[in-house]
Amino acid sequence: MTTLVVVGSLNMDFVVTVDQLPAPGQTVLGRNFQMIPGGKGANQACAAARLGANSVTVRMVGRVGYDVFADHLKASLSAAGVDVSAVHATRAQATGVALISVDASGQNSIVVASGANHALVASETEAMRSVFRGARFVLFQLESPLDTVAAALKLARAEGARTILDPAPAAPLAPELLASVDILTPNETEASLLLGLPPARVSMSDAAALAHSLRERGPKAVLLKLGDQGCFYCDGKTELSSPAFPVVAKDTTAAGDTFNAALAVALAEDRGIEKALRFANAAAAISVTRMGAQASVPTRAEVDALLTDGT
Ligand code: RIB
Repeated sequence: MTTLVVVGSLNMDFVVTVDQLPAPGQTVLGRNFQMIPGGKGANQACAAARLGANSVTVRMVGRVGYDVFADHLKASLSAAGVDVSAVHATRAQATGVALISVDASGQNSIVVASGANHALVASETEAMRSVFRGARFVLFQLESPLDTVAAALKLARAEGARTILDPAPAAPLAPELLASVDILTPNETEASLLLGLPPARVSMSDAAALAHSLRERGPKAVLLKLGDQGCFYCDGKTELSSPAFPVVAKDTTAAGDTFNAALAVALAEDRGIEKALRFANAAAAISVTRMGAQASVPTRAEVDALLTDGT
């Protein structure tokens, strides 16, 4: 078995469905309310374990509070097969939560109260060394403190792992941090922000130029996630695009997390980048047809079926 490590956030998601997302200052009446395990890090760990049940061991590094949400989030990850022995509790803050509204077209707006996730401090990074040792990939996002992400990226590399950074939520990143990234996986908004550009819709024909500009900032490879258009990958030698699977979106929450986890699982299985992109697109496509973060992550059998029968 290959080991994947995910360093990142665990949040309890409070999800409300609405006809339309509220404008600033507006109150709208919602419909259903659900509490669903989430957090970009935990979603990636859950998805990797569910998709790679027979091929990878998944370990999660993170922080929670001493509260009922912490117990629920850890139990949910354990049930998916994730090793949570490196998820520690802190008395400093409550477990992270996210307030999520999802509209009729599946688009969402999310406010995260990071809480205990911010207790994953850079001064404790050295303790991650033993977790990273022997790992094939270490996956990161940006719901943990930036200096912790920067230090842990370096440490993961030093321990021989390849690093995958999902730069979400969007934030400007120092060249030194980007230089420790093997695969950077922004969506179009994140890509624009990283380049200091205004947010803009990116078409597949613009993707190569954008990805090349991002690669010049330091990562070894860039994988642009372009939603319903699919994705574009370049690493200096290989360049390829992979179309999305057409589906009707119900909720896009955690589609990016599912994509990254699926990518890491497929690469850990030595399937090659082209197949890995297709596998990741298939997993993300299924996830958007369902409500919620970890609740929407497909099983391996579901992804394999779509890859066989899908377009
Ligand atoms: O990527 C989706 C996640 O973002 C949600 O689960 C929420 O917790 C926020 O972290």
